[in-house]
Amino acid sequence: MNTQVFQEESLPQGVALLPQGEVVGLPTATVDGLAANGLDPPAVAKIFQAKGRPQDTPLILPVAEASWLSRYCQEIPSTAWQLAQAFWPGALTLILQAKPCVPEIVTAGLPTVGIRCPQHPLALAVLRALDLPLAAPSGNRSGKPSPTTAEAMLQDMAGKIPGILEGGACAVGVESTIVDLRGKPTLLRAGGVSLEAIAQVLGEEILQDPSLSGQDTAIPFAPGMKYRHYAPEAPLTVVQGEDSGPWLAKQVKPGDGVLCFQEDLPLFPHCVTRSLGCRGDVAQQAQEIFSALRYFDQTTVPRIWAQCPQEVELGLAVANRLKKASGFQVISI
Ligand code: TXA
Ligand code: MG
Repeated sequence: MNTQVFQEESLPQGVALLPQGEVVGLPTATVDGLAANGLDPPAVAKIFQAKGRPQDTPLILPVAEASWLSRYCQEIPSTAWQLAQAFWPGALTLILQAKPCVPEIVTAGLPTVGIRCPQHPLALAVLRALDLPLAAPSGNRSGKPSPTTAEAMLQDMAGKIPGILEGGACAVGVESTIVDLRGKPTLLRAGGVSLEAIAQVLGEEILQDPSLSGQDTAIPFAPGMKYRHYAPEAPLTVVQGEDSGPWLAKQVKPGDGVLCFQEDLPLFPHCVTRSLGCRGDVAQQAQEIFSALRYFDQTTVPRIWAQCPQEVELGLAVANRLKKASGFQVISI
């Protein structure tokens, strides 16, 4: 299969593949996704095939606006409307009770569905034009770092899908935040909307699922989270702490890969370095993280060391992606 990248005037041609039951790459502003008609099980099955994704991992269902919540969810708590009003379109996915019209292949057989209204204008235009929800996971091969450019998606998906809609580099760079709203609001995945901002809107503390810190969950709220994720080819070790730069400079061997803060690049003259962005700029780090992890796959480094931001605001999502990519090989100094 030839994978065509649709740009500007050829975009309508690419969009037309969706109602025909095909899968296309779609920019969603967080990371680039693989989209299919979310109500068409054979089309959704093609997503699992292209990603090599385990069948027990549910998919997120992007919608055009908050009013669509009642099309696909039931027993919707007021917290859902509050958060949708505050953050949609945006990088927030809500886990709610699914209506029976949501296909089992989307929910992986769970009683719930993850719903999000993406902020990329192209994704919104497609959703409105088709008047259908899409199923849209990140457009990487299962286990690999998410793509944040059409080029990165093409690396993983060339020959596996018929087309990619080009929408420019992703503005956010990490995936949506996922919050389960059925009981007490619980964070399942840190992402582009901070925990602090969600807590402020709801006026209550948000619980955190144990899987966020690498522990097994008693109840598999988010089954996809049990698999190793975002991993580059070489083993990765995360180093956390104020003085991680000087500590790491003594630790590294010539030729090692180092993913470090911009300011610390000069500490590693004999290593293969890549900047994660400035130490205090977590928004920049979020934009960089996945392309940085992918960068090391084009090198022959035997191992990778990564500095890690503080786990507040967007730093929580960046740190979580790094830790997962390392399989939770974390050194705190
Ligand atoms: O920003 C995003 O959310 C991106 C863009 C493309 O929209 N999508 C994305 O999808 O990250 P994916 O499939 O790569 O990650 C979705 C995560 C998985 O870990 C999955 O287990 C969880 O969401 N999830 C989906 N539906 C769920 C549900 N009903 N209950 C719990 N977790 C769910
Ligand atoms: Mg993913």
